[in-house]
Amino acid sequence: MLLAKDIIKDDNPDLRRLSVPVELPLSEEDKNTLLSMYEYLQNGYDEDFVKKYKIRPGVGLAAPQIDILKQMFAILAFDEKGEDHTYLVINPKIISSSEQLTYLKQGEGCLSIDKVYKGYIHRAARLSAKCHLLDPVTHEVKETTLRLKGYIAIVFQHEYDHLFGRLFYDHINKTNPFYVPSNSTPVIFRGEDDE
Ligand code: NI
Repeated sequence: MLLAKDIIKDDNPDLRRLSVPVELPLSEEDKNTLLSMYEYLQNGYDEDFVKKYKIRPGVGLAAPQIDILKQMFAILAFDEKGEDHTYLVINPKIISSSEQLTYLKQGEGCLSIDKVYKGYIHRAARLSAKCHLLDPVTHEVKETTLRLKGYIAIVFQHEYDHLFGRLFYDHINKTNPFYVPSNSTPVIFRGEDDE
């Protein structure tokens, strides 16, 4: 079971290194790694677990964050409509992304970054990505093309960045952290008033 101590922080240079493709068919070891990353995210939604083990909840976790430099990440997140998305992603490749951008008004966070970095991160509002997905229940691995938009597209790009050693604050405009280009609009969550 992964706990807080297993997640490396941004003072560890490994977080800046490139991850290598995962060998397929998936080895037992890699499968168990990816399932444990998913389990960590699930545990983050369990308030009692969070309190007891003092873990930080998250919506995504990439293998480099547990110091395994392989192209895998897990996502467990609710989109702007409140629908849940579970992806256990292997060897992703973003094949197209929209010119339209989107961002989170509250900025982004990362389990590997303790400090708060204020500013907007503008990412593609829609993307297509080829990857293999591990089914968390049947453990089947299938090749697929994901088409994602809005919040989930942001989460995907954040995790994808980890595979290339990039961190969210790399994207914040240094001179004007809250700069909004004309082709970017914020994610609006259900029940949130549009100002
Ligand atoms: Ni992160």
